[in-house]
Amino acid sequence: MPVVGIDDLAIYIPKLYLDYKDFAEARGIDPQKLEYGIGIKKMAITDTNQDSACMASNACLKLMQRNHLHPQDIGRVYVATESSLDESKAMNSFVVGMLEQIYGEGSFEHAGGIECKFACVSGSYALYDNANWIRAEENNGKAAVVIVSDIAKYDMGSTGEYTQGAGAVALLVKEKPRLMAFDQKVASTTIKNEYDFYRPFGKETPLVNGSYSNLLYLISVRKAFDAYKEKAIKSGLIKLKDGESITDHIDFFAVHLPYRKMGEKALAYLLRHEWRHLPRWKHVIKEIGTTEPQPKDARGTIESILADTQFMKADEQFRRAFMQTSFYDEVYEKKMATSLEASAIIGNLYTASMYMGLRSLLEFEFKKGTELAGKRVGFGSYGSGSSAMVFSGVIESEYKQVVSKMDLDEDVGPRQKLSMEEYERLHRNERAFTDSVVRAHKEFVLVKLGGITADKAGFREYDYVS
Ligand code: COA
Repeated sequence: MPVVGIDDLAIYIPKLYLDYKDFAEARGIDPQKLEYGIGIKKMAITDTNQDSACMASNACLKLMQRNHLHPQDIGRVYVATESSLDESKAMNSFVVGMLEQIYGEGSFEHAGGIECKFACVSGSYALYDNANWIRAEENNGKAAVVIVSDIAKYDMGSTGEYTQGAGAVALLVKEKPRLMAFDQKVASTTIKNEYDFYRPFGKETPLVNGSYSNLLYLISVRKAFDAYKEKAIKSGLIKLKDGESITDHIDFFAVHLPYRKMGEKALAYLLRHEWRHLPRWKHVIKEIGTTEPQPKDARGTIESILADTQFMKADEQFRRAFMQTSFYDEVYEKKMATSLEASAIIGNLYTASMYMGLRSLLEFEFKKGTELAGKRVGFGSYGSGSSAMVFSGVIESEYKQVVSKMDLDEDVGPRQKLSMEEYERLHRNERAFTDSVVRAHKEFVLVKLGGITADKAGFREYDYVS
C-alpha cells in the first residue's frame, strides 16, 4: 500500500486581532484568567470583507505557490468547516472559483471534492478519506488538498467570547510525503448524538454548554484512544512491554484546541486514564499526596458525573495537583507544549485548531533543535455533536525541507490591533462588507454580496487584490 500523508501545510490568519488585556478590562475579567486560565493573548478577528471561503482560498493559494503546484497536480479540493456560507452550495466551489481567477477558468474542472461538516472534527475525516483515495490508487498520480477554515464567533458577553479566533490551514496530502506519513489501520472514531455545542440554521453564534462540551471532548477522545490502542497493538504498530503505556510510544500529542488550556487538560485526562493501572501510578500518587477521587456512580452518565458536585470539585483539585507533578510536567514539556504556542496568539480555529497545533509543534520543535525524523505524532480530534477521531503519523526524513522554512511571525504577518469599540462594531456586523478596516493586499476578499434580482440572492463574489 502506498505511503500517504501530509507533504506540506500553509496557513492564513486575518490581519485584525483583539488583545486579551483590552478585552479583560472591558468585560471586568482578571486578565490573568485569560492568560493562564484559558491561555489566550490575542484573538484573530476577520475583517468585514472576509469569510471562511476566502481564508480557505488564501491558505490554498499559499500552499500551491510555495510548492509550484498547478491545478493539474491536484485531483481533490476538500473544505472542512463549521462556518458554512450556504445550505447547499459547498464552500470548496467558492474556493475553486477564487483559485481559477489565478490559474485560469476551468483549470480545476478535472478535480473533485466536497464541503465536510462535523463541528471541529470534520477536517480529520476529510484527511482520512483523501489519504484512502490515494491509497486506493484512484488519484491518477494527483495530490489532494484538504482545507480547514473557520471563524469562531460567540455571543458578546458570553463565556465563549474569550475563546474566539479565525483562520485557515491548507494541507497537501500525497504519496511519499515529505512531512508526515499516516500510520495505517489504526485511525479510530466514536460517534454519539449530543447537544454540547450546536448552531441552529440562521444563527450566527453557537449555543454552548461549556462544561458539558469540555467533559464530552475528554471522554470521547479517550474512548477513541482506547480503540486506537487496541488497533495499534493488534496490528503490531506498537508493542507494549510490561509497565509501559501506549503514551510512551507517542512522541508528540496534537489535540483539538478550542483554547490553549484545554490542550493541557486533555493531556492530563489521557495520562491519568492510561497510567492509573500501571506501577508508575503509585509514584504519582505519592507525589500528589492523595488518592484519585471516585464518582458516586462510576458507571454513570456524563450528566450524573457533572451533577456529582462533590466528586467534580475533588476531581478538579486532583487534576490540578496531577498537572503540578514532575510526571505530568515531563510529558507536557517534551510532547505537547510547542503545539500550543500558536493557539495563544490566534485563538480558536474550530476545524483548523488541531492542524495549527501541528504546525506550531513542527516549527517550534525544529527551532529548539529537536531531531524529528521518525517521531510519532498522536492526534486527538474532537467535534461537538459529537465525534472524536484518534490517529497517528510518523515524521518523515525529508521534513527539514518543509519545516526549516516555517515562520509563524512571518506567516501571521503584521496585524492591526482593534479597539474594543471597533471589535464590538464588527461583532454586531454594523460595518458594511465594503467598509473594511484594513486594505487587503495579495489576498482574496469578498467584493459583492447578494444580487438585485431574487435569483441572485446569496451570490458571493470574490476578487484577488494584488
Ligand atoms: N487567574 C488565573 N486563572 C483563573 C482566574 C484568575 N484570576 N480566574 C479563573 N481562572 C481559571 C479557572 O480556575 C479555570 O481554570 P481550570 O480549568 O484550570 O480550573 C479557567 O480559568 C476557566 O475558568 P472557568 O470559570 O472554569 O470557566 P469559564 O466560565 O470562563 O468558561 C469555557 C470556560 C471554556 C467553558 C467557556 O469559555 C466556553 O464555553 N467556551 C466555548 C466552548 C468550548 O470551547 N468548549 C470546549 C470543548 S469543544
